[in-house]
Amino acid sequence: MSELQSQLDTLHDRLRAGALEVRDAEALEELRVRFLGRSGEVTLARRGIGALPADERPSAGKRINDVVAQMEALLEEASARIARGSLDAELAHRIDVTFPAPDAPLGSIHPVRRIIEEIAATFAHLGFTVVLGAEVEPSYYTFDALNIPGDHPAREGFDSFFITPSLLLRPHTSPMQIRTMQQHKPPIAILAPGRCYRRDAVDARHLFQFHQIEGLLVAEGVNFGHLKGALAHLCRSLFGAEQRVRFRPSFFPFTEPSAEVDTTCPKCRANGESCAMCGGSGWIEIGGAGMVHPNVLREVGYDPAQISGWAFGVGVERIALARYEIDDIRRLIECDTDFLRQLQ
Ligand code: PHE
Repeated sequence: MSELQSQLDTLHDRLRAGALEVRDAEALEELRVRFLGRSGEVTLARRGIGALPADERPSAGKRINDVVAQMEALLEEASARIARGSLDAELAHRIDVTFPAPDAPLGSIHPVRRIIEEIAATFAHLGFTVVLGAEVEPSYYTFDALNIPGDHPAREGFDSFFITPSLLLRPHTSPMQIRTMQQHKPPIAILAPGRCYRRDAVDARHLFQFHQIEGLLVAEGVNFGHLKGALAHLCRSLFGAEQRVRFRPSFFPFTEPSAEVDTTCPKCRANGESCAMCGGSGWIEIGGAGMVHPNVLREVGYDPAQISGWAFGVGVERIALARYEIDDIRRLIECDTDFLRQLQ
């Protein structure tokens, strides 16, 4: 029995010495396993109980348990000391709050957005107000009020994504003409930028979603010359003072007369050579325009005998392609930052 006691005393002393020395939680755990683990030294001593005479076994068991309790207390203490030490070390750690931080990566305005903002600024100088509309519109605002009755073949060109039979993703920004004129009396001078949707097959020049900017000027005495002047001003502000604008006769149900609007190709400047941007024609098409149709004016309660106006709708992506000489419209929605970074 006294042999067991001295064995236990030694174990206890060795563990205490070890516990005073350990500096981190890992070493402490090693120490615990070495003494109290499943095949640790105390367990081995416990196995010796079996060899003792039966009447000595209970008190031997108790002694071992007492020593284990003392050892555990020593380990606890050591663990608390280590925790305190690491907190002290953390508190002693000084941070230089005046040290300059590394630069945060800066984002930039997407080219489509930048062109919208530029055009809005150009027209703001002319007294136009920006109005924003919803991307889902009833077919009344999209078609009927714009002089496109239900059976009109022009609807096909605006084929879009219908949500209900009379509610669709807008295929153009022109519904904002109606909404604005119904709410306000002339004079009206608005710019309506926004995303539009069409069921177009996707290729290098077409997407199922794109941005348009609608312009609308309605007042007494507004004429086609004002429209040409406004669009020439727009193209020059976008591409430079040399820029020319060409109108080709066209048809839109909501304007009469109507025109397709072209501007000189900013890449080749119509030098007659083959150009990937304009196909060698020297012109790029940026949108449609015309004088607001009398039926549209009547629909919103204006008198076409007194009031006239013009409207245009230009494609923002088309302008972006020309402006930045981008070969594929899909690049504008791919969120490829390596690509976009080149367009800063
Ligand atoms: N809304 C027409 C389109 O999307 C463009 C347009 C707007 C034409 C205003 C004339 C007047 O094709």
